Amino acid sequence: MKILITGASGLAGSYAARLASKKHQVLACYNRNPIDFDFCECAKLDVENEGECAQVIGNFSPDWAIHSAAATIVDKCELEKEWAQKLNVDATRNVCKAAKKAGSRVLMISTDYVFDGRKKGGMYVETDATNPLSFYGKTKLEAEKTTLASDAKNAIARTSVIYGLLPAELRQQRKNFVTWLVDELMAGKKTKLVDDQINCPAYAGNLAEALVKICEKNLGGIFHSSGGERASRLDFGKQIAKEFGLDGKLLEKGKTSELKQPAPRPYDSSLNVKKLEQAAGIKMITCGQGLALMHNEKK
Ligand SMILES: NC(=O)c1ccc[n+]([C@@H]2O[C@H](COP(=O)([O-])OP(=O)(O)OC[C@H]3O[C@@H](n4cnc5c(N)ncnc54)[C@H](OP(=O)(O)O)[C@@H]3O)[C@@H](O)[C@H]2O)c1
Repeated sequence: MKILITGASGLAGSYAARLASKKHQVLACYNRNPIDFDFCECAKLDVENEGECAQVIGNFSPDWAIHSAAATIVDKCELEKEWAQKLNVDATRNVCKAAKKAGSRVLMISTDYVFDGRKKGGMYVETDATNPLSFYGKTKLEAEKTTLASDAKNAIARTSVIYGLLPAELRQQRKNFVTWLVDELMAGKKTKLVDDQINCPAYAGNLAEALVKICEKNLGGIFHSSGGERASRLDFGKQIAKEFGLDGKLLEKGKTSELKQPAPRPYDSSLNVKKLEQAAGIKMITCGQGLALMHNEKK
C-alpha cells in the first residue's frame, strides 16, 4: 500500500511513519520541522495550503492519508481560536478534498476531548454523544465530521495523552507528558499532578499499530484508539516515576480547579477500545506496558 502521513514530524506521525514503512511505501510529511528519515521518503506539506495539499497528495496518490497534523496545544487553541480553526478544521477540509480527488481514504487522528467527561465511570464508546468543553475539542469534532462527510469510507482514530520519544533532534522543543515529568523529577522538582482528570494514555508505538492496522484492514468509521488502561494524571505520574527509577515522593496531589488552565478539561474521558481491538485484531496496552516499551527505547 501507499500511505501518506501529515504531521510526520510530530509524535504520533513519526511512529506511524516508522512502523508503516516496514511494509508499505510511505511519504512522511512535515511543515516547519524538516525530517529526513532513512526508512521512507519525506516531503514538505503545509496542510493549511490548499494548493500544496492538492499537489503533494495528488502526486503521491496514496491508498490512505493518515492525517496527524493539528494544533495540539489545548490551551493555545482556547486563546488563539482563529489559528486552531484554520489548522484543525480548514486544513482537514484541504486534506480530505485532495484525498478524494486522488482516490485516497483519510484516517484522521482525533481526541477524547470530544467528550465532556461527565459519563459515570467514563469508558466512552464510539456511539456515545459528544459534547466538547474546549475549543480544541470543538475543532477536532468539526474535523471528524468534515472527514466522514467527505467520504463515508474514511476513518477516525480518537486517542488520548500520547507519549513516546520524538526523533532526537526534535525532542527538546516538544515534550509530552512523560518526557516532561521525567525531566522534572530528574531535576528533583516537586511536581503537582491532578487526581481528578482521567484518561487512557496511549504509547505512540501502540497507537501507530492501530493506525496501520486500520489502513491495512480498510476499516471505516470511528475507532477509539487510546491506551487500554484508565488512569488519573497522578496515578500515571506514579507509574512513570516507578518505571524510570525516579523519586515518586516528589509528586503531590492536586485538583483541576487549582490549575487555572485556559481550556476546560473533561474529568473522565477514558475510552473503551474494544471495537478497535476486535476489528483490527490488536491489543491496546496498559500504561505499565507502554512505559516499559518507551524506557527500553530510551536505553
Ligand atoms: N498529543 C496528545 O496527547 C493527543 C491526544 C489526543 C489526540 N491527539 C491528536 O493526535 C494527533 C497527533 O498529535 P501529536 O501530539 O503527535 O502531534 P505533535 O507532536 O504536537 O505534532 C504536531 C504535528 O503537526 C504538524 N503541523 C502543524 N502545523 C502544520 C501545518 N500547517 N501543515 C502541516 N503540518 C503541520 C507539525 O509539523 P511541523 O512540526 O513540521 O511544523 C507536527 O508534525 C493530532 O491530530 C492531535 O490532535 C493528540
